[in-house]
Amino acid sequence: MAPPLAAGASCARERNVTRADAPLTTTPSSALLEVRAVSKSFGGLHVLRAVDLTIARGSITGLIGPNGAGKSTLFNIVSGFLAPDRGDVIYHGRPIGRISVVDRSRAGLVRTFQTPQVFGHLTVRENLVAGCHKLGRSGMLADMLGLPLARRELAQMQRRAALTAARFSLEPVADVLAGKLPVGQQRLLELARAAIADPELLCLDEPSSGLNGDEVDQLARMLTQLNEEGMTVFLVSHDMELMGCAATVNVLCFGETIASGPFAAVKADPRVREAYLGA
Ligand SMILES: Nc1ncnc2c1ncn2[C@@H]1O[C@H](COP(=O)(O)OP(=O)(O)OP(=O)(O)O)[C@@H](O)[C@H]1O
Ligand SMILES: [Mg+2]
Repeated sequence: MAPPLAAGASCARERNVTRADAPLTTTPSSALLEVRAVSKSFGGLHVLRAVDLTIARGSITGLIGPNGAGKSTLFNIVSGFLAPDRGDVIYHGRPIGRISVVDRSRAGLVRTFQTPQVFGHLTVRENLVAGCHKLGRSGMLADMLGLPLARRELAQMQRRAALTAARFSLEPVADVLAGKLPVGQQRLLELARAAIADPELLCLDEPSSGLNGDEVDQLARMLTQLNEEGMTVFLVSHDMELMGCAATVNVLCFGETIASGPFAAVKADPRVREAYLGA
């Protein structure tokens, strides 16, 4: 089995310093995660072609691109759901290609999905408690036997779940089955469940899809707040409002990075305007 990675100390608040004209092969000392020359094909379809990308520690780093550009595929590779054909993902300076999804998550690399993945048959509160599982030290047997350590940990998780429900405005629906919630609240719940264990790198795939304007504003505030508390965020989104939270935005088009830098500069890039913004 792959050795678990040690989770790093909590991050300093730094801004991503990647410049569009900087060579992508350099390794900024502030990099928390790097994608190096990652390629992936499905049959004859080349979805990613030697993609490079750097996520600076403490940043919100964005990834945009037209439908089918390969964004979710890259997310799947970063989070370990897919293996690249070539290239490496480097986390805390170490390649993690052989590290399982579960061990990546234990090491603080956590993701959400383009289609919200909540436990529909559990309540919101139970979903949040489930998100705390990796904070626990007692084993399954201790849990089943209700041993003192397991009972103490469960009480701590329940307190944490209550605080998180309040923070994410989910308190009024804490005892509702997650499957009964409207999509906006399911997305918020998925984010809350991912954030509850205080991950070091939170990867979000289209978190604002299906949300109304107020919900997008709330999401943007939550992401900014989590980031100010030290969480690094990797954000895939078509939502240009939400992308305004990101210090650096990368643009993927037909599996290649065509621009990277501050959002204002990226938006003004003629290649991006042509390929993505339709200008
Ligand atoms: N498991 C798979 N098998 C075959 N083709 C796949 C698979 N996963 C993705 N693809 C194809 O790879 C391409 C990129 O898909 P991907 O989901 O990564 O794009 P995306 O940028 O996330 O798009 P969107 O903005 O629509 O979410 C698409 O053509 C898709 O159909
Ligand atoms: Mg996608």
